[in-house]
Amino acid sequence: PGSLLSVADLSVADVSAILTVTTRLEQMPHAQRVALLAGRRIALLFYESSTRTRTSFELAAKSLGATTTLVSDKSSSIEKGESLKDTGLTLRALGAECVILRHPSSGAPFVLARETGLPVLNAGDGMHEHPSQALLDARTMLMRLPGRNAAKANAKSLDGVTVVITGDILHSRVARSNALLLPQLGAKVLLCGPEQLLPETALGLGSGVEIVRDFDAALRRSQVAMMLRIQKERLAGLELDLADYIARYQLNGERLAAQAPDALVMHPGPMIRGLEIAGDVADGPNSAIELQVSNGLSVRSALLLRALNAGGFESVTV
Ligand code: CP
Repeated sequence: PGSLLSVADLSVADVSAILTVTTRLEQMPHAQRVALLAGRRIALLFYESSTRTRTSFELAAKSLGATTTLVSDKSSSIEKGESLKDTGLTLRALGAECVILRHPSSGAPFVLARETGLPVLNAGDGMHEHPSQALLDARTMLMRLPGRNAAKANAKSLDGVTVVITGDILHSRVARSNALLLPQLGAKVLLCGPEQLLPETALGLGSGVEIVRDFDAALRRSQVAMMLRIQKERLAGLELDLADYIARYQLNGERLAAQAPDALVMHPGPMIRGLEIAGDVADGPNSAIELQVSNGLSVRSALLLRALNAGGFESVTV
């Protein structure tokens, strides 16, 4: 209980509860908030590099009064060959009550939850999922798109919204989690990219998800443009003509102005300016990229409370 391993584990009611508690935590006075997880121990276990996810989970835990510790593959006994299971059991023996795990292997959070019995929050597992990212992305859309309510969710919350997710879909856990979550809230998802980065069978597409190869055509249909980084670390020999990719798929000012001048621009980060997105678009008035980052802090606070305070989670009030 309290784990978040996959978006597929969340009902729309679960998503709504998480968004409601996120908003309440933001409104809560510091003294009340910092008591919520006082004395609780949370471990951050990171086998891959991270800036946003690691920092926001850590700051979120501290803002709720919890004690945190970071174990990274590069400075721990993982380097000596210690297994995921033994690392998890060690953290549990040291009093960790919840583990936030980033790992290059899809499914690693399931293994850790099974072997330790602790609530595990998936902070990104290989090419599989990044559920907290999808939640913060949904909240960002609900905050920035007109006429929406970011403090709760239902199956029509994103009715009439089309989101184009463009780039390295094949290797993207962000794309997978968003393609699972956004249609549950009523959005249509267009996946866009070249065949190399988006095979027809890429994600086992569900309803509400469609592949579109022509980025300009996809943009014209969309209210949200979510750009993804080319994950050079996962390309594994796959050759990509970057000049051709930029010509066809980069979100630049000219393309945005011509095809979707009002679209909300999103990127999970880290972004490579000048490759998948032009710097002026990333910094421009359509961009919600910094709001995504700050929403990471808020949503992850709610997820930590859900993990450690399962009984009282939904009754948290300001
Ligand atoms: N979006 C995201 O997961 O960023 P980090 O890799 O910096 O955590």
